[in-house]
Amino acid sequence: MRSLLILFPLVGLANLAVASESHGPPDSATFETTVKPFLARSCTTCHGSRLKTASLDLEAYATPASVAQDAGTWEKVVAKLRRHDMPPVGLPRPDEAEIKAVTEWIEAELEQAALHAAPDPGRVTARRLNRTEYNNTVRDLLGVDIRPADDFPQDDSGYGFDNNGDVLSLSPVLMEKYLAAAEKIARTALFGAGPLKPSLARVQARTGKIQPSPTPLHDYDVTGLSLPNALHATHRFPVDGEYLLRVLLGGFRPLGSEPIQVGVWIDGRSRCWTSTRWAGRPSSWTGRTCSASSRSSARR
Ligand code: HEC
Repeated sequence: MRSLLILFPLVGLANLAVASESHGPPDSATFETTVKPFLARSCTTCHGSRLKTASLDLEAYATPASVAQDAGTWEKVVAKLRRHDMPPVGLPRPDEAEIKAVTEWIEAELEQAALHAAPDPGRVTARRLNRTEYNNTVRDLLGVDIRPADDFPQDDSGYGFDNNGDVLSLSPVLMEKYLAAAEKIARTALFGAGPLKPSLARVQARTGKIQPSPTPLHDYDVTGLSLPNALHATHRFPVDGEYLLRVLLGGFRPLGSEPIQVGVWIDGRSRCWTSTRWAGRPSSWTGRTCSASSRSSARR
């Protein structure tokens, strides 16, 4: 609470500092005495009602109000003056002090107009976290890495993004999941993860097929392994422990083929190897010796 109380005066001071730095309200007389003569001397031969070079007629702006109404154009004018792009090279350079006075007046006028414009930023959507954000937030705040949101319904996506507040709705099902997750997270945060029941996870390799590769691989793949016949999948080991890995091989081989060598890598390190006689029919291979590594997390 104390830090909150201290914050408020600080925020107030910061606002004051910003406000005092901005320009005061523009003087409308300056438009007649300084800006208009400047434009007439340096600009309107090209950007006047006669030539309208680059579709820009600076003579059309008779009053400060007309300048304020067309912020887009006058911001371009300021930019051109600041960068000394205009008047074009070869023409007499206007006086620096004059350029400064003119750009400052235009900016003050535009700023004043913006202050009174009552902009409409649109409706602000109350947004919720998507599943990834939820998991990461719970982990970062509470150190609970049980990925509770994996159990939530799939997030909707809009314009190709799944963190778009407008489409992230809150269904009754999700609300129920939130309540259940909250309890589980709180329990885990206080008492640690409870014992898990044995469970079965089926992991499918992203590329289903092993293709013969006629040319040698020249680059590492995502796992850092460059074996031509390697398939990979990511699986999350929820806790440290002994895991039974069963590899199912499909396909057909001619009778009398050489034994197949099967190896399993976890996080790029070779964990277990075996060879299996396999000809004709699909076969399966079971390794009991593979234990998941010390920290539970996603592994390839
Ligand atoms: C000799 C003729 C000439 C003079 C004088 C001149 N301009 Fe230009 N201006 C051009 C031309 C040609 C372009 C279009 C090419 C470009 O953008 O560089 C242009 C473009 C612009 C643009 C961009 C318009 C757009 O919609 O993109 C602005 C703003 C501008 N001038 C402002 C000024 C100002 C301010 C002055 C006086 C300080 C001035 N110009 C003097 C010839 C001139």
